[in-house]
Amino acid sequence: MTTDIILEAKNLTKTFGGLMAVDDVSITIKKKIMHAIIGPNGAGKTTLFNLLSGVMPPTNGEVFYKGENITNLPPYKRAHLGIGRSYQITNIFPNLTVLENIRLATQARGGDNFKLFRKADDFQSYIDQAREVIKAVDLAGKEAFLAQNLPHGEKRKLELGIMLACDPELLLFDEPTAGMSSEQVPELIDIINRIVQQHERTAILVEHRMDVVMSISDVITVMNQGRILAEGTPSEIASNSQVQTAYLGDLYGELA
Ligand SMILES: Nc1ncnc2c1ncn2[C@@H]1O[C@H](COP(=O)(O)OP(=O)(O)O)[C@@H](O)[C@H]1O
Ligand SMILES: [Mg+2]
Repeated sequence: MTTDIILEAKNLTKTFGGLMAVDDVSITIKKKIMHAIIGPNGAGKTTLFNLLSGVMPPTNGEVFYKGENITNLPPYKRAHLGIGRSYQITNIFPNLTVLENIRLATQARGGDNFKLFRKADDFQSYIDQAREVIKAVDLAGKEAFLAQNLPHGEKRKLELGIMLACDPELLLFDEPTAGMSSEQVPELIDIINRIVQQHERTAILVEHRMDVVMSISDVITVMNQGRILAEGTPSEIASNSQVQTAYLGDLYGELA
């Protein structure tokens, strides 16, 4: 049976002590779609990402990737299946260069990270791949910069590059524009759009900037207090009165 579903979560729940961070969430992600998840602070978006990427186990429920039950797989195994994730907390090596950071990521994909001896031409091919990735995230010319010396906006590009180096089919972005000035946002969003569309990838995007969400999403899921409040196209969500009463002032103020 062919299916256009890439990821499916069924009845996911995550509790922290008495707190229901994610409360019986079922969500279906279709292939080649930009699927945004929005909701006020504390709604459970990052926790849901942690459950989808395997950073923590759910208290209840299951996650399926291309029909395979991955609920108990750790993050690195999910990454090998094709699920990439960017973190709000950065996972770059600050005292390595841009090229070295990306090269290590391409090498990890190649499965060579534990081999002591490599053929020189393999090594060169990792560097070539890394250079392709660096171009894709608009960091050409910055190869020799130490990651720690990059301005914030370029660190975010480097994070995208590290994720892209693993050539994921499904990309999870958690607030990729966090901490960026408004002028820096369009370029990063362009890069994300390109990364997703060029290779017909699928993306799940948590983002608080409503202008960004409304312009790039195919589908939007709204979370509130650990639960799904609504789901639909950007125009359906914008005109949803339940969504508006839940947090109209906070988010839709930016839309006006
Ligand atoms: N590791 C954790 N331990 C305890 N509580 C947590 C943990 N992670 C998140 N929470 C709580 O779960 C709720 C949802 O948080 P989170 O998923 O980060 O929301 P969002 O990303 O939508 O802002 C919040 O009340 C938060 O304080
Ligand atoms: Mg969050």
